[in-house]
Amino acid sequence: MYDYHDPVLLHPSVDALVTNPDGTYVDVTFGGGGHSRAILNKLSPKGKLIAFDQDEDTLSRVPQDPRFTLVNHNFQFTKPYLEYLKALPVDGILADLGISSHQIDVGERGFAHRLNGPLDMRMSNQNPISAAHLVNTASESELTTLFKQYGEIPNARRLAEVITRSRGSKDLASIQGFKSAIAPCTPGKTPAKYLSQVFQALRIAVNKEMFVLETLLNDAESIIKPGGKLVVISYHSLEDRMVKHLFQTGNLQGERHTDLYGHISKPFDNQPNAAITPDAEEIEKNKRARSAKMRIGVRNTWKKTLS
Ligand SMILES: C[S@@+](CC[C@H](N)C(=O)[O-])C[C@H]1O[C@@H](n2cnc3c(N)ncnc32)[C@H](O)[C@@H]1O
Repeated sequence: MYDYHDPVLLHPSVDALVTNPDGTYVDVTFGGGGHSRAILNKLSPKGKLIAFDQDEDTLSRVPQDPRFTLVNHNFQFTKPYLEYLKALPVDGILADLGISSHQIDVGERGFAHRLNGPLDMRMSNQNPISAAHLVNTASESELTTLFKQYGEIPNARRLAEVITRSRGSKDLASIQGFKSAIAPCTPGKTPAKYLSQVFQALRIAVNKEMFVLETLLNDAESIIKPGGKLVVISYHSLEDRMVKHLFQTGNLQGERHTDLYGHISKPFDNQPNAAITPDAEEIEKNKRARSAKMRIGVRNTWKKTLS
């Protein structure tokens, strides 16, 4: 049983990440610190770990260890913070994306459709835009796009229309009020699946998750030393696709740009080729692990060319 968050793919991720016990590593998603503690256990007294988390709740979990620094900020700014800390280049980065069990299980955070609370979904209270603000102010076409792109919701247009029409007459600031407003769009047979998709889409938009991940992945080449690792655990296909593309083609769009000889150059090699997923035993113990996919990229010594 976890008391904050049960770390997913703990040993496979940390074993792949840490290859130099004297090195400097970065955990951009500290959460309850499960991965960070396992990284610290692998480091020598000379090693260093810098972690990021934008959620103030994680501050209570910080290990008292002279090798550890927590930056209570968005990992969008990993590179400038590491520059400021004179920590560049580093030996590896771990990103365990999404939200923690703690964030899901506290109703006031507004992430879980099965709980009562405000429709919030902000990972950091420095973020001025909550999900309630979004559903009350975004245009119908903006809502349609975000439900289609981030939730793959089949009736996205109708859902956006129902939301914008409910403004003023329904309570769109609470989870219960929002669920009742969108009830005409929610399928009777699989309401939980549908609501999970809707909540996921709003969460991704509120926290600008795609943009933030894109920034980290684009910066990773200049943050990590040759031979160092970028280990990413993702929980939905939009995130995983970006990581896969970076490791396979060298860009986030997955475009194969070849030179005159038909070669492509890329900063990371994926090792192994396919994504790694939790085994049945881990999923049995921790249901939240079931959608996890981990990819490991090794920073090339030079921009390796591949046929
Ligand atoms: C899945 S949890 C990580 C759990 C952690 N690996 C552990 O062992 O406890 C994701 C954490 O990353 C944080 N997070 C997500 N996106 C972030 C971002 N853009 N910047 C900073 N922290 C972020 C969340 O607040 C959450 O605490």
